[in-house]
Amino acid sequence: PVTPVILSGGSGTRLWPVSRTAQPKQFIGLTAPQTMFELTLARVAGLADAQTPLVVANAAHADIIRAQGGPDITVILEPCARNTAPAIALAAMALEEQDSAMLVMPSDHVITDVAAFHAAIERARPLVAEGWLVTFGIEPDAPETGFGYIALGEELAEGVRKVSRFIEKPPLDRAKTMLAQGGHVWNAGIFLFSARAFLDALAIYQPNMLAAARQSMAEAERDGKVIRPSEAAFALCASDSIDYAVMERGEKVACVPVAMGWSDVGSWDALYDLADRDADGNAVQGAAQAIEANGCLIRSDGPHVTVVGGQNLIVIATGDEILILPRGRSQEVRKAVAAMKQRK
Ligand code: GDD
Ligand code: MG
Repeated sequence: PVTPVILSGGSGTRLWPVSRTAQPKQFIGLTAPQTMFELTLARVAGLADAQTPLVVANAAHADIIRAQGGPDITVILEPCARNTAPAIALAAMALEEQDSAMLVMPSDHVITDVAAFHAAIERARPLVAEGWLVTFGIEPDAPETGFGYIALGEELAEGVRKVSRFIEKPPLDRAKTMLAQGGHVWNAGIFLFSARAFLDALAIYQPNMLAAARQSMAEAERDGKVIRPSEAAFALCASDSIDYAVMERGEKVACVPVAMGWSDVGSWDALYDLADRDADGNAVQGAAQAIEANGCLIRSDGPHVTVVGGQNLIVIATGDEILILPRGRSQEVRKAVAAMKQRK
């Protein structure tokens, strides 16, 4: 069997002001009426041999997860944020007795071709049984520096390649070289491995993290389908991502390259690319209107917003915040977030 493990820990400021610490992007309907978290659950509902999902999340989001995820899912509430490696360790410990395979997925990505995603998972399953850590690879189309890159090695099975190198978040010149060379894919941030294989890798590369996570699970409070690992022990885990802590170091790491309409919706520009657009290239969402404008993303869940004659603008209105910036510069939202923090 395979258990979907959904990571919901990020606080997501790149889609500010809609995504905020209290309500990060996974709990919002960005690309569809359903939230990204709901879409993630729906995406695994039809997976062959799948167990009830397990969600690892920030304790502050317990209620919203139950509201959006329903009564059946198991939830591990982290007492503090320690990035993805410790979060996945907690999930692996909850699943190790049944020796389940774990399909680790972010809660805030879009995949438009779910059939292709499921087919890629099926290709990976035989290797998972042999102890491989499997990741899924996306053909790159730009030298993005916010992703992990995978240098593809020999073919291990049909459609499955050995990872010859895993390069997490390279500098721009390195990303450009890998793009020009070919033979490299982006890490989708989705992983498939057995709980045992992951814990074995942690024992080799992160023994202190493993011990702290084990202790916090041993001392966990359990209440039905909610597990609360102890804070004192979990806080001792170093804060590190699975990519740096394990994937860059692992020996038995494989990749299934897959074209599945994947996006991590990492910016307002990415959302514009995914959105339905009118004949003038405007994506208009919520209480908004475009007049003689083109190439704009206009979104409001607050006041009605009208843009007249604008070109290639991003206009986002919500609650008591409005953000306006040119398309192509949405990574600079962090400047607005920094200014907002100064102000408040
Ligand atoms: N439960 C929990 N706890 N989840 C977390 C935590 C945490 O402390 N930190 C992050 N997450 C969740 C995020 O909510 C997100 O769904 C996922 O784990 C990945 O974390 P990100 O912080 O978004 O990682 P990233 O985007 O910088 O990089 C990862 O994803 C890229 C693809 O989007 C890496 O895996 C890259 O290699 C990859 O290319
Ligand atoms: Mg991300």
